[in-house]
Amino acid sequence: MINEIDKKIDKIDITEPCPAEEPFRQYYFIKKARGYYRELAKKAGRNLTCSIQTYGCQMNVRDSEKLTGILEEIGYTSSDSEDADLVIYNTCTVRENANRKVYGHLGIMKHDKETHPDKMIGLCGCMMQEPDVVATIQKKYRFVDMVFGTHNVFKLAEIYCNRIEAGGQVVDIWKDTNLVVEDLPVKKEFPFKSGVNIMFGCNNFCTYCIVPYVRGRERSRQPEDIIREVKRLSEEGVKEIMLLGQNVNSYGKTLEEPMTFAELLQKVTEVDGIERVRFMTSHPKDLSDELIDVIAANEKICRHIHLPMQSGSSRILNQMNRRYTKESYLELVDKIRRQIPEISLTTDIIVGFPGETEEDFLETMDVVNRVRFDTAFTFIYSKRTGTPAATFEDHATKEEIQNRFDRLIKRVSEISGEEICRYKGQVMPVLIESVSEQNQELLTGRLSNNILVHFKGDPSMIGEIRDVSLDECKGFYYMGNLV
Ligand code: SAH
Ligand code: SF4
Ligand code: F3S
Repeated sequence: MINEIDKKIDKIDITEPCPAEEPFRQYYFIKKARGYYRELAKKAGRNLTCSIQTYGCQMNVRDSEKLTGILEEIGYTSSDSEDADLVIYNTCTVRENANRKVYGHLGIMKHDKETHPDKMIGLCGCMMQEPDVVATIQKKYRFVDMVFGTHNVFKLAEIYCNRIEAGGQVVDIWKDTNLVVEDLPVKKEFPFKSGVNIMFGCNNFCTYCIVPYVRGRERSRQPEDIIREVKRLSEEGVKEIMLLGQNVNSYGKTLEEPMTFAELLQKVTEVDGIERVRFMTSHPKDLSDELIDVIAANEKICRHIHLPMQSGSSRILNQMNRRYTKESYLELVDKIRRQIPEISLTTDIIVGFPGETEEDFLETMDVVNRVRFDTAFTFIYSKRTGTPAATFEDHATKEEIQNRFDRLIKRVSEISGEEICRYKGQVMPVLIESVSEQNQELLTGRLSNNILVHFKGDPSMIGEIRDVSLDECKGFYYMGNLV
């Protein structure tokens, strides 16, 4: 792989002092790390593999692509398996169960390391931004080689060199940052579609949510850097871009020359070769009329908005600090559907927020019944230490909450099964993504509205956009045929 970044790394002289400025400092460490990698590979008598295990949201998925990009530049070959020579867990802490899983895997790794002492283990991501987690790792998990956070993912090559030179655990966590480092290697999971960060962090402080504490203050990337990245991706063959941010609707507000998300979205669709643009996530409190207009007028923007409602009770929404009400949410949905009737709306819902009563829950069910989401991701409230809601009083029992949750899931999936079928018989363009996991003879593709379709076809078509007839609806997906 000879690309622009390779050429820049080749020019670096590691006998000179290390450059202070990024990304050149990291190019220096990538080159230095290549030397360490060669020694390790020589000792093992083979090429070494790396594996990034990713938990959590699209932000982490994109960070993992950056980590893999750096490790491949160093010399590693990526693999899916935790048997790899270097395994990094990119962690999520949005709910307690995401957190618990990681400790389970670390137990297995400890055992692995006893039989393979040269194996390297890394921990990064949102959990590592919690001081008590890091303290536990330092005390009880000394075998972990590298511990870093969400703000210094770009520094992996430097941390790797530090680990080799120190001979023991290296911990490098930043509390927050203003830095956005551009032009480091990235390994895309798919050749034909890619996420692109447009902003980092979150300033909304919903009272249940830990993300603002572990991802830091909101920072938007410069529009020219975003467009440059999209152009480069398009040249590499990418057709679909997903713009990523915790609340894309507040993009650009803090830039020196402010720009709206709608303006950015329009600009991204104008890049040659880009055929589809998606975005994630849209906070209902500041989804603008301008954004609805831009989506309605531009066919390249996918017919899907993920619009997390969290609760249908205005009282609970207020307690959650969501800054909209049941009524304003419903009005927003109406406005979007009036202008973009073919839009697919999906959502996130939390059940059992502290103080939620049966009446509050029925308000949530009411919105579910009125909006009829194509898909709703449902979560039981999970208490996160350090968030305001962790100190709120709660009276509902575990059984009551589970009962509400079960009723919600049942209703959400009934509606979803009915709604998804509304396109039956139509012919729609599909981006072909893979061979079907269930049946090797079928391909799987995605409609603009994010619904999946399986159909007969040749794997050589993966990455193409083709018309498919949606012949049979299976509830959550279609069976179709190429036309
Ligand atoms: N920025 C996005 C959400 C990111 S977190 C937004 O505001 O829409 C993804 C989802 O996890 C949230 O929408 C919420 O439904 C859920 N979530 C966040 N914190 C949670 C908690 N403490 N307990 C349960 N679910 C939570
Ligand atoms: Fe969390 Fe709210 Fe920010 Fe979303 S907008 S990441 S739910 S604080
Ligand atoms: Fe989890 Fe961090 Fe995303 S906490 S949901 S991976 S921002």
